[in-house]
Amino acid sequence: MPGIVIVGVQWGDEGKGKATDLLGERTDVVVKFNGGNNAGHTVVIGDEKYALHLLPSGILTPGVTPVIGNGVVIDLEVLFDELSALNARGVDTSKLKISANAHVITGYHRTLDKVTERFLGKRMIGTTGRGIGPAYADKINRVGIRIQDLFDENILRQKVEGALEQKNHLLVKVYNRRAVTVDEIVDELLQYRDRLEPMVADTGLLLDNALDAGEVVVFEGGQATMLDIDHGTYPFVTSSSATAGGASTGSGIGPNRLDRIVGIVKAYTTRVGSGPFPTELFDDDGEKLRARGFEYGTTTGRPRRVGWYDALITRYATRINGLTDLVLTKLDILDDFDEIPVCVAYEIDGVEVTEMPWNQSDFHHAKPVLKMFPGWKEDITGVRRFEDLPINAQNYVLALEELSGTRISVIGVGPQRDGVIVRHDLV
Ligand code: IMP
Repeated sequence: MPGIVIVGVQWGDEGKGKATDLLGERTDVVVKFNGGNNAGHTVVIGDEKYALHLLPSGILTPGVTPVIGNGVVIDLEVLFDELSALNARGVDTSKLKISANAHVITGYHRTLDKVTERFLGKRMIGTTGRGIGPAYADKINRVGIRIQDLFDENILRQKVEGALEQKNHLLVKVYNRRAVTVDEIVDELLQYRDRLEPMVADTGLLLDNALDAGEVVVFEGGQATMLDIDHGTYPFVTSSSATAGGASTGSGIGPNRLDRIVGIVKAYTTRVGSGPFPTELFDDDGEKLRARGFEYGTTTGRPRRVGWYDALITRYATRINGLTDLVLTKLDILDDFDEIPVCVAYEIDGVEVTEMPWNQSDFHHAKPVLKMFPGWKEDITGVRRFEDLPINAQNYVLALEELSGTRISVIGVGPQRDGVIVRHDLV
């Protein structure tokens, strides 16, 4: 079963690294299919800590071919900064392949991201400010710049002209910013052309060939289900397809090549930025979860909003993604609670519902109906077999499994790479 998709179930930061680590040695190719440098993962190998925002985590595993698919938006400055930092520490990045159809993020996207947020005032999304939304908007608007455009200066110039036509009016007349010249953007982009050239490939074909050869291809989703542009808490979402369907469109392989869809879900919930969050906590329990789970954004350093586990979200994610497995992360963060509430339904205007409401206003009003589970008050970070977990922890996991409708194949019990309990192998 060589095509394995990894997606976040909640609002991101579920700890996908646990799953990619587990697949580690079995993986031949890792492809990032959506998002850009709005993601953030810290990978610890031995004593070395690597913070990656754009590059797929597979870049650190010797022998793995890392791929940036067509669904990604690439800030070339960030790409080459991350590559240089890795090369300086002796990491070989020469196998990286980048889709010719991926779009680029340039200076005007970053500027627009920041000024639009400011103009939204209290309706702001709380974006990462990396230019992600404006770059995807240009893609959909058909005025985006693609990686392949860098290899024909004439075309590049025409496309940048087209992209700037409206933007300069907007920047100058609405946002009171200076106009951007075609030359400065063309020069900004062309400086990367020669270094980029050996990496550019028909990545869809490369992936298809790898799958045909029986290689293990891992499709690594950025962000998560509830941040997906279609299925998330719109408009408080990112601008790409972060669900399993995006693995196909964002990498150029057919959906029937995806054999296993693994959802990563935290044993509680977190979210960064604005938007509804039914189980959010504002009390001491929330503080405790944030401190114990070290819930601060990798990309922006912002304290994450925290709340209890929401079974409706996982059930929804199971359906939208077609999940075959769950990886439950950070169970050990709950080690020190007397009681652990789980959201099993929402009360919306006096009515109890057990499915995600289709109406966003209803989701904003949803009050969590909580079921209490007894805590285990014991350090579980050293446990490696499910049967060795305290019985209350076992019952908590089994209850989440039943409520979510997908088997929990792996449980994260500690920050170390081997801090996992494997109930079913992922590959
Ligand atoms: P954008 O992706 O920068 O446009 O931000 C849109 C929303 O997605 C904001 O609420 C961000 O905080 C959130 N977001 C984007 N990337 C991540 C991520 O990797 N983890 C968690 N939240 C994210």
